[in-house]
Amino acid sequence: MKLTIIGTGYVGLVTGTCFAEVGHHVICVDNDPAKITLLNSGGIPIYEPGLDELVRKNTADGRLRFTTNTGEGVEQSDVVFIAVPTPPLADGSVDLSFIEKVAREIAAAMTSYKIVVDKSTVPVQTGDKVAETIKRYCKAKVEFDVVSNPEFLREGFAVEDLMHPDRVVIGVRSQRPVPRMKEIYAPFKAPVIVTDISSAELIKHASNSFLALKISYINAISVLCEATGANVQEVASGMGMDDRIGRRFLNASLGFGGSCFPKDLSAFIKIAEQVGYDFGLLKEVQRINNEQMNRFLKKILDTMWVLKDKKIGVLGLAFKQNTDDVRMSPAIELCQRLQKEGAVLRVHDPKAMDKAKALLKDTTFVDDLNEVADGCDALVIATEWEEFKKLDLERARKALTHPILFDGRNLFDPKQMEALGFIYKSIGR
Ligand code: UGA
Repeated sequence: MKLTIIGTGYVGLVTGTCFAEVGHHVICVDNDPAKITLLNSGGIPIYEPGLDELVRKNTADGRLRFTTNTGEGVEQSDVVFIAVPTPPLADGSVDLSFIEKVAREIAAAMTSYKIVVDKSTVPVQTGDKVAETIKRYCKAKVEFDVVSNPEFLREGFAVEDLMHPDRVVIGVRSQRPVPRMKEIYAPFKAPVIVTDISSAELIKHASNSFLALKISYINAISVLCEATGANVQEVASGMGMDDRIGRRFLNASLGFGGSCFPKDLSAFIKIAEQVGYDFGLLKEVQRINNEQMNRFLKKILDTMWVLKDKKIGVLGLAFKQNTDDVRMSPAIELCQRLQKEGAVLRVHDPKAMDKAKALLKDTTFVDDLNEVADGCDALVIATEWEEFKKLDLERARKALTHPILFDGRNLFDPKQMEALGFIYKSIGR
């Protein structure tokens, strides 16, 4: 099928590329000329495992192309996806101005029937507003359908998630666009659920909020584990063996971050407020998450006493493994708070150092993971990168002035660390 994706960020670029990979003809549109020039010259604006090969392959095969021209994309496609950002506003609600602008642009360019699909994460009932806007601004007065088709990919695993989705959600106002939407997704062989638009929009916010809740739940349990000498990983494994609970997203940590969970939680709380419901449960999820960072910092302060002029090595800057994304990264927040206490930082991240440079001043960025500890008073792990497990612990112990390691991601075994001579403090163990 001929598809256009408007917005070439994480969701738009990965979705467009994977659609091309399964045989569709895809035009990716973005209003940032620098990004389009980069993509047209073989570059990739984000780090996402496996993405660069797929972009190269599908552009070479002529199934994927990039343009700044929305009109061209709308004109040449049957189905137009909206995948533009929906950033948070100061009061926690969502800025829908990009969605509204794109809806107007699509409307202005439409000269025949189109299916307009919202992929961006939006508050419930946005689909109705998009439909109203298109109707109002479409001079050609052609027919169209609006569909809500939320995306569930995780950064760092985006290609894998897109190629093998758990489910495809199609929210519609009539059955007319359903066969074509199913045709688009047929090659992915995933279960499809067709709902009304509001339900589809709610599925997205309800899913992300539930996953955030799961993390805060295990983080709250980690506090009880620390108070009683239990091990949160064993508790999580025992809980997770119950199919109804599941082990995933039960990893205790210094808190969740990123451009999705914090924003979506605030938005969902606000949406609930607007329809007259106080979603106190989700406010508690936020409170536990903030408290988890405070507790981790306190652990460092209690052990190190004064941080002023102490050298701290930090492993991890990205908000999670396998990405260069530092938006709302707990690792960055931790670094900034350590600096506020007067600590001098040596930091490393396998992919996120360039993006972190804009956020962390007076910081030494170290290319080699094993050199971060050199001359430091303590080492901190802030992101769950697999490769940190390969840290040369013997070398780190010798390089540190005191062998102290704070592990905000539970990457090492406490008993082994003690046997190696470390003062080792992790989460809930
Ligand atoms: C999240 C959802 O997992 C995706 O399904 C969704 O599509 C996406 O938001 C979105 O709305 O676009 P993402 O933000 O990429 O994906 O990353 P996650 O893997 O969910 O991790 C979020 C945060 O939770 C990270 O800071 C991670 O380190 C933390 N986390 C995750 C934990 O602290 N513990 C866990 O057990 C899992």
